[in-house]
Amino acid sequence: MFKHLFTIAQKGNLMAESPGPDTVQELETKAVKGLESAGTEEELEEWRISYLGRRGELTRLLRGLGSLEVEERRVVGAAANRLKSTLEERLSEREQALKQSKVAGSGAEAIDVTLPGRPIPQGGLHPTTRVIREICDVFTSMGFDIVEGPEVEWDHYNFEMANIPKDHPARDMWNTLWVDYTDENGEQPMLLRTHTTPMQARIMESRKPPIRVVVPGKCYRYEATDATHEWHFYQIEGLAVDRGITFANLKGTLYELARAIFGQDRKVRFRCDYFPFVEPGVDMSIDCFNCEGKGCRICSETGWIEIMGAGMVHPKMLERVGYDPHIYTGFAFGMGPERIAMLKYGIEDIRLFYSNDIRFLKQF
Ligand code: DAH
Repeated sequence: MFKHLFTIAQKGNLMAESPGPDTVQELETKAVKGLESAGTEEELEEWRISYLGRRGELTRLLRGLGSLEVEERRVVGAAANRLKSTLEERLSEREQALKQSKVAGSGAEAIDVTLPGRPIPQGGLHPTTRVIREICDVFTSMGFDIVEGPEVEWDHYNFEMANIPKDHPARDMWNTLWVDYTDENGEQPMLLRTHTTPMQARIMESRKPPIRVVVPGKCYRYEATDATHEWHFYQIEGLAVDRGITFANLKGTLYELARAIFGQDRKVRFRCDYFPFVEPGVDMSIDCFNCEGKGCRICSETGWIEIMGAGMVHPKMLERVGYDPHIYTGFAFGMGPERIAMLKYGIEDIRLFYSNDIRFLKQF
């Protein structure tokens, strides 16, 4: 019985109006207005149901066409069908626009996707990083490995194994920052490594010859700073150990480096120098790339620029790690990449490197 009632009620409702051309017009005006004021997905859906849904106003109108005269039905029917496709189109446009505005945000957060993009500022490599990479590339191309080691080091590796015993005056060459810590027996003091040389013993202990390594890394010294001294800086250590390595190999290798970094025409000069871990020890200079050896401000009027210390690995160093110095020989070198960067880029104060002044860093 209820079912029956329902059918009648529904039918009555559906047949309520006999549509005419005006009805279509009125419906269009109303629907378009309604659509414009629908601002959310839910409101759009409500609108769709009330006009285009199964019991929506337009659907009812279309169903009501049956009650019209043939001629009228043709006219009103065509108008109603046109209206249907217009409303469907408008609805999908509104849905599209709503989706778009959701992506772009609204109000203050709105993104105007038509604006040209802003370039993303790109960072540059720090001059020290540049020089370290450049130098390491030269050595890897000659068959060297790149190895890194601890910045906090035992006295044992920083000094003892590098042939610098306790109370030896050579320790004065490295003003040390000590760490308030010792090993469990209280015998082994800890420090911030004063150079990358401790890696020589560490590498020889953990590898067997042939050894060809380069060790870039940070070092620390208890220094008052000035234009050429920093209390922290980088070094690049090099070590080659094998049967039959001679001073000629050292010269040839470092000559290649000098030419790769400072230009193919560079001349090099070796002079005697003292470092406890090499014998003989040398310092290496290049002829001034600025004045071609004539003398200028960069080379302090000497025509030569000192760029690193080097030498043949001291036999005691080899003995300490259990290598027989009668069988194996080696060469070693150590250089400061900041100093090389200062020469290459004409930087006058080493303190600029780590003061984080963006105006300085931006130039690289
Ligand atoms: N470790 C030295 C320094 O800090 C630099 C150096 C000189 C390293 C000669 C070497 C070398 O390996 O053979 O001044």
